[in-house]
Amino acid sequence: MTLQIVAGSANPALAGSVAGKLGRELASAVVERFPDGELRPVVDGLQGADVYLVQPTGPPVNEHVMELLLLVDACRRAGAARITTVLPYFGYARQDRRGRAGQAIGVRVVAEALASAGTWRLIVVDPHTVALEAICAVGVEMVTAVPLLARELGAGPLGAREQDRAVVVAPDLGAVKLAEHYGALLSCPVAVVRKTRLSGTRVVAEELVGDVRDRPVVIVDDMISTGGTIEAAAQVVAGHGAAPEIVVVATHGLFVEAAVERVNRAGIRRVLVTDTLAQPAAPAMPLGVCSVAPLLADAIGRLHRDEPLDDLLARA
Ligand code: R5P
Repeated sequence: MTLQIVAGSANPALAGSVAGKLGRELASAVVERFPDGELRPVVDGLQGADVYLVQPTGPPVNEHVMELLLLVDACRRAGAARITTVLPYFGYARQDRRGRAGQAIGVRVVAEALASAGTWRLIVVDPHTVALEAICAVGVEMVTAVPLLARELGAGPLGAREQDRAVVVAPDLGAVKLAEHYGALLSCPVAVVRKTRLSGTRVVAEELVGDVRDRPVVIVDDMISTGGTIEAAAQVVAGHGAAPEIVVVATHGLFVEAAVERVNRAGIRRVLVTDTLAQPAAPAMPLGVCSVAPLLADAIGRLHRDEPLDDLLARA
């Protein structure tokens, strides 16, 4: 089976970079758009191929999800032998449980739709929930960008001297395991903020468990969306006497609504994210971007050769 990389329109630069690292050209894929908004992808040259279709489903989420479903169908009808959908960012993964009666569980709906369109397997970078593999009917390889982000932190925003004294902060209880992973890689202690979400855009953070007084702080999360979580956590650690100039690290930078203003007014020295979602060339905040292309190329190359991914996988 030949290996083919297909790019959706959400992050073609990342897909191209992954293909380049694997020594391939991107396969031919065009998404036609009709005047009423309907999409129709056309792919070529995939007969009998081992296809890896790269499309993060970030904003506009519904548009990117729909395009992805149609692309999977197009690849299947073009005769692909197997289709692995690569979701550098999996939109809807936060909808993994019902907060109240009458709500949908969006992640399951999207996972089922991907499977029924013809996806044989998923590769997802740092999904919001590791329960994803239990939710999906198809196999899921959950790879993690945390080691490469931790390396980048140590080499850049957090110099060796600061790293010796730094505290890794989880901005909510859901981020504790992630913070422990960063803490282990950076050899730093962990503190935890208790956050309450009031709505999609409003959170309050009240308490801090752990000591940050006079110490450099690294706030870690899986994603930054509106920036509300990061801003609230930055206020709490500042209120507990942390050294100024906080560093923030997250795998996925969505930066929707007032996120940029929130980062800029929260006294954050540096925000480090990956390119799972396309980032602006000239961001209006102190942003560093670390590419996941080597990670995805490594994962795809190994899966194509039927080799294990153990050391690339996200921790439970
Ligand atoms: C929530 O559980 C997530 O891990 C993030 O903390 C959250 O989605 C970030 O969203 P926002 O930036 O809108 O606060």
